[in-house]
Amino acid sequence: MSSKVFVSRRIPARGLDKVLAATDAEVWQEELPPPYEVLIEKVQAADGLLCLLTDRIDARLMDAGPGLKVISNFAVGYDNIDIPAATERGIPVGNTPGVLTETTADFAWALLMAAARRVADGDRYTREGRWKTWGPTLLLGQDVHGATLGIIGLGRIGQAVARRAQGFGMRILYHDIQRNEEAEAVLGAEYVNLDTLLQESDFVTVHTWLSDDTYHLISDREFDLMRETAILINDARGPIVDPDALHRALSQGKIAYAALDVTEPEPIPIDHPLLALENILITPHIASASFETRGLMASMAADNLLAGLAGERLPNCVNPEVYDRG
Ligand code: GLV
Repeated sequence: MSSKVFVSRRIPARGLDKVLAATDAEVWQEELPPPYEVLIEKVQAADGLLCLLTDRIDARLMDAGPGLKVISNFAVGYDNIDIPAATERGIPVGNTPGVLTETTADFAWALLMAAARRVADGDRYTREGRWKTWGPTLLLGQDVHGATLGIIGLGRIGQAVARRAQGFGMRILYHDIQRNEEAEAVLGAEYVNLDTLLQESDFVTVHTWLSDDTYHLISDREFDLMRETAILINDARGPIVDPDALHRALSQGKIAYAALDVTEPEPIPIDHPLLALENILITPHIASASFETRGLMASMAADNLLAGLAGERLPNCVNPEVYDRG
């Protein structure tokens, strides 16, 4: 008898087809995620769960599904899942690292370039019928080449962002909880403390995980340290940046511009004060959204799910401690 699984949204066919071929799967068909109480109901008879970063997977949900053998997240980040609770219950959790690194770094650069050179502002200006002539001081922005880039979090994605910065002749600073001298040598990056990074960077880009330690890592004190001409980029997780402090920084001219792919909350409500500002650009959490990458993520998420159902080690497991429990 095939395993029962719940898939909390339609994911690309490259992964979904594998799940449908090998399991008795129910796939949530709506555009919006299943409400929490629906998810609770769906896991009751499930052997496996393939979920998204929009699903809160906590201890209560795990207890509602006593047969759960695996939780496979269609994302590299897993801050939506209570990992210690999964480990305590012996449930392996899968994620999709690696395949989205370059695509997410590309997008950080799309945000950086768009903010620096006012691409979204220019598009809005054109569509509003305001383009009357070539203007000597029209929509002036910041140079990217030769500028200083500050990378917060030099993990896989941070390093991919740094590689691109080399081509722009940038000075590269980084801060991380762990110094990486090998990466420094390859990337020509300089390790500095967070305050120095904030004080000296023309562009500050965030590539850390979201955790208790990084929640509101960028708040009033940090904006006070940044340059008035600085541009903040975030395609990691929204709550790393304090949105109220960001609003104060942008409206009081403490920094020049922000380009965000992630927000707190998500989605950002249309009447949110940040959306009333001119010097911000916000996209709807699409940094990994290329056809190829989302297909690869779907395939990896399916492989993790199917391995877990078969009682095998997940190819990408975030809590391998479950296998050492004796
Ligand atoms: C997307 O944000 C992911 O974590 O994969």
